[in-house]
Amino acid sequence: MKERVALYPGSFDPITLGHLDILERATAIFDRVVMSVLRNPEKQPLFSVEERLQLIHESTRSLGGQVEVDTFDGLTVEHAERVGAIAIVRGLRALSDFETEFQMALMNRRLDPAVHTVFLMTSAPNVFMSSSIVKEVCRLGGDISEFVSPTVAEALRRRLGKA
Ligand code: PNS
Repeated sequence: MKERVALYPGSFDPITLGHLDILERATAIFDRVVMSVLRNPEKQPLFSVEERLQLIHESTRSLGGQVEVDTFDGLTVEHAERVGAIAIVRGLRALSDFETEFQMALMNRRLDPAVHTVFLMTSAPNVFMSSSIVKEVCRLGGDISEFVSPTVAEALRRRLGKA
């Protein structure tokens, strides 16, 4: 039977336990999941693309060979096609995510009707979590150990001068 591949695109600046939860659940549905970091020159990330890749590699090691990590620029649907993905996976948190995600999903479908968007509802403890809010909590000296892996927590504390 043909291998079912999904693309999980995002900024992942940095990867949180919320992202890992979505990724892990995507691996239960698809044979292989490609987690792709967008190279976005318009954004000012805290971590470089290479640093984000390294943090993703370290955080996803336990998921084994089902997960691949790479980067992309340009259109997500074109990258989905490049990696042989039949679906784009996105996590949905609160209602506030819905509008943007709905817009992106419909645009992606217009661009390539063969690529489906699959939304996975975030697990309850992660509803309020985002990379941005975790960075803010860390910047203000709060405890982030519940939101990111120990490696990411250390990288965040160092980068934000809280180590
Ligand atoms: O983690 P993020 O920042 O919410 O991820 C957003 C991402 C990377 C999925 C989105 O910005 C994206 O798909 N960018 C690629 C450009 C693209 O394909 N645009 C047209 C469809 S919206």
